[in-house]
Amino acid sequence: MAETTGILIKGGKVVNEDCSAISDVYIENGKIVDVGPSLQIPAGVRVIDATDKLVLPGGIDTHTHMELAFMGTRAVDDFHIGTKVKKEMETLAKEKGVNSFKMFMAYKNVFMLQDSELYASFAQCKKIGAIAQVHAENGDLIAEGAKKMLSMGITGPEGHELCRPEEVEAEATQRAITIAHAVNCPLYVVHVMSKSAAKVVSNARRDGRVVFGEPIAAGLGTDGTHYWDKDWAHAAGFVMGPPLRPDPSTPGYLMDLLANDDLSVTGTDNCTFSVCQKALGKDDFTKIPNGVNGVEDRMSVIWEKGVHSGKMDENRFVAVTSSNAAKIFNFYPQKGRIAKNSDADVVIWDPKMTRRISAKTHHQAVDYNIFEGMECHGVPIVTISRGKVVYEAGQLQVSPGQGRFIHRVPFSEFVYKRIKQRDQVSRPTAVTRKPYEGKVVSV
Ligand code: URP
Ligand code: ZN
Ligand code: ZN
Ligand code: ZN
Repeated sequence: MAETTGILIKGGKVVNEDCSAISDVYIENGKIVDVGPSLQIPAGVRVIDATDKLVLPGGIDTHTHMELAFMGTRAVDDFHIGTKVKKEMETLAKEKGVNSFKMFMAYKNVFMLQDSELYASFAQCKKIGAIAQVHAENGDLIAEGAKKMLSMGITGPEGHELCRPEEVEAEATQRAITIAHAVNCPLYVVHVMSKSAAKVVSNARRDGRVVFGEPIAAGLGTDGTHYWDKDWAHAAGFVMGPPLRPDPSTPGYLMDLLANDDLSVTGTDNCTFSVCQKALGKDDFTKIPNGVNGVEDRMSVIWEKGVHSGKMDENRFVAVTSSNAAKIFNFYPQKGRIAKNSDADVVIWDPKMTRRISAKTHHQAVDYNIFEGMECHGVPIVTISRGKVVYEAGQLQVSPGQGRFIHRVPFSEFVYKRIKQRDQVSRPTAVTRKPYEGKVVSV
């Protein structure tokens, strides 16, 4: 096991969401004890030289499915590597530290909720101060579209996108926002994959709705043209819902919206199935387990496509990979900031170094990588989790069970302050009238 006590990170550029400064960072017993120039530290602590490197808050992946049992099989990456009734939601939020719930509008006859059920779930989330998250795709249209594709003899991975085009995602996104607005509930749209759905989220924010959109590494780093690849296994590897979009300008567009705060946070939706698991759908695309990788490469892909490209600066990078998630899910500044008393989750980042992503060198269990061959500027040199070096010189230094559940408190102010005020000031009131005294038709 790595260090348990003091670490001094010397001479790096500390990057938070709002500012950057050359500073030392001193860590002890899992916490950041001090941040400042030329810190005087007792002899004997480990010193990591971060000259010409960035010192970033540890990334927070907002969305993963480790070991998910799904579509007849189980996701291969686990936590080491890689609706019920109203009362239970309340118990989870009040006593168990769970402050977000994901609702599905897709996967008909499995997870899909009707509008009235969404309404009830959003109302309950609001009552208990949780974040209502939604997988926004019209499940009825997907089911009909899939039947149509199969009847036309389209059984391969391209059928997956063709049966659920962009408008299927955009319609559900708009519907979820409308239902959430009806109960004045904040809404978090997971895996925003298309230009159309992203525009819906962006327009809603401009209309004053409390809505957060989460693009994922896959949608920002690659596209759906792969579904038309002649190699079945290659094409199937990209199958996820909502699908990657064949319009190759989609990733850049999503990145522009992320850079400009139309979209708020990034996850990965990491849900990995090896090629032989994907092959459950070799003759029928509806049976291909849905999900792609991303958890290992998210930071590099977003740096490359976001910061290296000039679309966002290093501070916005920290906001969308870490701080905003910590604020939404209500553990900021314990996480998401390099500051005194914050948890010592730190990445020492070399913005100039490059690496080429490949399944041959990745640490995930899955046997392919949707970013295969992508060259990324921005490489993590050292990763520190709760004060321990967990990655250094290309080697992971972790053991199963080292991760910790973070108990999250409901009613995140970042999310709920505006909602509470609106409830106070914008209650509709009845018009005071004299009683109607005329005739009433008899029925
Ligand atoms: O295809 C996906 N997204 N798989 C994971 C389950 C989900 O819908 O998020
Ligand atoms: Zn989903
Ligand atoms: Zn391809
Ligand atoms: Zn997911």
